[in-house]
Amino acid sequence: MPDLPNPETPAEASALRLMDCPNWVYLLREFDALYRYGSAGGSPAIRSHRKRVRDRLSAVLAANPAMVDRSRETKPVVAHFARALDLGERAAMQGMARALREVKDDLTWEYGYEKVPKALAQKYAYCEVLGPRGPVQGTTLTLGFVLFAPNTTYPQHSHHDIEESYISVSGAWSENNAAVFAPGSLILNTSGHEHRITTGDRDPCLLAYAWAGPAERLATPDMKLTAPRRARGAGA
Ligand SMILES: [Fe+2]
Repeated sequence: MPDLPNPETPAEASALRLMDCPNWVYLLREFDALYRYGSAGGSPAIRSHRKRVRDRLSAVLAANPAMVDRSRETKPVVAHFARALDLGERAAMQGMARALREVKDDLTWEYGYEKVPKALAQKYAYCEVLGPRGPVQGTTLTLGFVLFAPNTTYPQHSHHDIEESYISVSGAWSENNAAVFAPGSLILNTSGHEHRITTGDRDPCLLAYAWAGPAERLATPDMKLTAPRRARGAGA
């Protein structure tokens, strides 16, 4: 639970609690505002997802958990991060982009897969802000950002027992070739829903995401890409 000290946490990691780190608090408050005041567009499923996210986030803020010291890590796509933030600061999600800029030197960029397709390794990475591994500890909610280079295809995949929402911060992207999303748009992927993302060809794309699910699933999300395996099997 977020309010229980982790017995394995070394003294230096538990010295700071969330409320000692205003930049992380303000970033989480940007998430809270998005999921509290944005529209569900008339969708009952999106309305209940939004409520789940903000209830779980409120519980974390109230618990004021100890911060987890995560090592800073970068990935090749981070070369596009400054541009993504700049575009974000000019558009509907400027508050989120500015709050994210204030923690940019403390982010842990990851792939989340043991085997990342070569092309994707250059063009994609994500960083968690809140989740089982920190830096802000939460158990049933993960919040973070995913960054894509221009002209990227993120292959087809789904999430078991996790409902996922993306909110565009900057750039243009499409899911399953079905629509184009602009800054401020929200899309919900329910458990098991297969999805594939493509991004516009001029600018990077930065999305905020939320995962709501059972604690054991968020701790080991078991992310799997569907399409590349099929493609390799077909000799592509
Ligand atoms: Fe996904």
